[in-house]
Amino acid sequence: MTEIPAEREFLGSKPREHLTKVLTRTDPIEVSQEGDLIFDGYKAEGLLADFGSPLYVVSEQTLRENFRRIKGVFERLWPTKVLVMYAIKSNNNPAIRAVIHQEGGGGDCFGLGELHSTFMGGADPERIAMNGSNKTEVELRAAIRKGVHVNIDAVDEIRMLDAICADLGTIGSVALRIKSAPESLAGSPSDYMGLASDVRAFLLREKWGFSVESALELVPEILECRNLRLRGFSLHTPRFTQNPELFATCTRDFAESIIRIREATGYVPELIDIGGGWPRDRDPESRMHKLNGSSVENFAEAVVASLLDTFEAHQMPIPELRLEPGRFIVGNAVVLLGRVGQIKRDCGMVWVNVDFSTNNLPRIDTAGSAYHFLPASGLDRSYAELAQIVGSTCIDSRMADNWAVPDLATGEPVAILDAGMYADSASTQFNSVPRPATVMISDGTVHIIKRRETVEDLYRNTSVPDHLLPE
Ligand SMILES: Cc1ncc(COP(=O)(O)O)c(C=O)c1O
Repeated sequence: MTEIPAEREFLGSKPREHLTKVLTRTDPIEVSQEGDLIFDGYKAEGLLADFGSPLYVVSEQTLRENFRRIKGVFERLWPTKVLVMYAIKSNNNPAIRAVIHQEGGGGDCFGLGELHSTFMGGADPERIAMNGSNKTEVELRAAIRKGVHVNIDAVDEIRMLDAICADLGTIGSVALRIKSAPESLAGSPSDYMGLASDVRAFLLREKWGFSVESALELVPEILECRNLRLRGFSLHTPRFTQNPELFATCTRDFAESIIRIREATGYVPELIDIGGGWPRDRDPESRMHKLNGSSVENFAEAVVASLLDTFEAHQMPIPELRLEPGRFIVGNAVVLLGRVGQIKRDCGMVWVNVDFSTNNLPRIDTAGSAYHFLPASGLDRSYAELAQIVGSTCIDSRMADNWAVPDLATGEPVAILDAGMYADSASTQFNSVPRPATVMISDGTVHIIKRRETVEDLYRNTSVPDHLLPE
């Protein structure tokens, strides 16, 4: 079946109708009678006028609703304890971390920087895990000092952690990261357009996790360490599908590895951490504009069944379940607002420049993410033409290709949905463009949670040697 690209599907309609078709249940977005985009009670134009353009706007309420939704579904399905650990890599703003901490959420962090932002926002160390394939002695020592759990992903980490814990007179909480690349996925292409032609080969090539064969050797080694407590196993399945059954193939394979390890070593885990990758209803990283056909509830059901069936078939006690959602929690809780710049009509085409760029939404360049771009006023105008929506940096910076737009004018406000995940935390300052400010709307009040960068900020760490200084 040939798919109608969403952008053409919307041509002939109005932005208000477009928005209605793609709104999801926790979006804090409305359109006023006058056709203005309202985000969590605030008119987009008013936010830009008060805080400058471009601007990331966070809805505290949506963060909470997303957190409660994913926690709720797993708690309903899993018979023992569940811990939701926010993956701070998806958005490292400490105010966002603080909301998750208030909700009772744990966290996943990577390296010293994310350990820092995690605790800046507030964290219970027992609910925090440090991940990473190349953790240094300094990072491991910092994690152990804080009392943070460590997911081991390198052989040398075992020895380093044991020595650090001995030195600090403590027992380190650890799990071993397992790789899942099921045989049944060999040869099958990813339904994330163009991601991989062979999903098994794609998963095997990833640097993370140990095969079950390696785990069979490493588990006894960890169990022998006097200063480490092996709590269980971790897994993270990168996004490759919108099909819950295919995703659950990986967790079934993970559960089977755990059974094999128990059979060979007698070790029974007290917890399993199944990582992130949980699907959003609108999912730019699927590289498709249309809504996801399967919800997080569908994914949770398939994954939980894969784990429980396997454990119950082998009379394995059911461990605590941990998960590390990032984009699911923060994705639609943030909108990126900006303004239209120059509009060029030539060669039978239209280029609409905007004042943000792929610097602020880097997954467009690195993952082909497909975002929804909308005018933020005049949402009852008809879509009039197809345009290239481009950022002003001197790379392509194409944020939407052949995208339906009304008759836009320079200076008017525009919005990109789903700017919460891997946007600000992965952003760049290419062309020496300072990064936008971020505000958070909390119960009707707007707080600045990251001030706008200045050009001086960009050059704060550089210096020109004396002999090269201009006369
Ligand atoms: C170990 C680990 N946990 C959690 C996540 C979060 O994934 P997502 O934002 O897709 O939920 C990632 C993302 O790459 C990860 O590598």
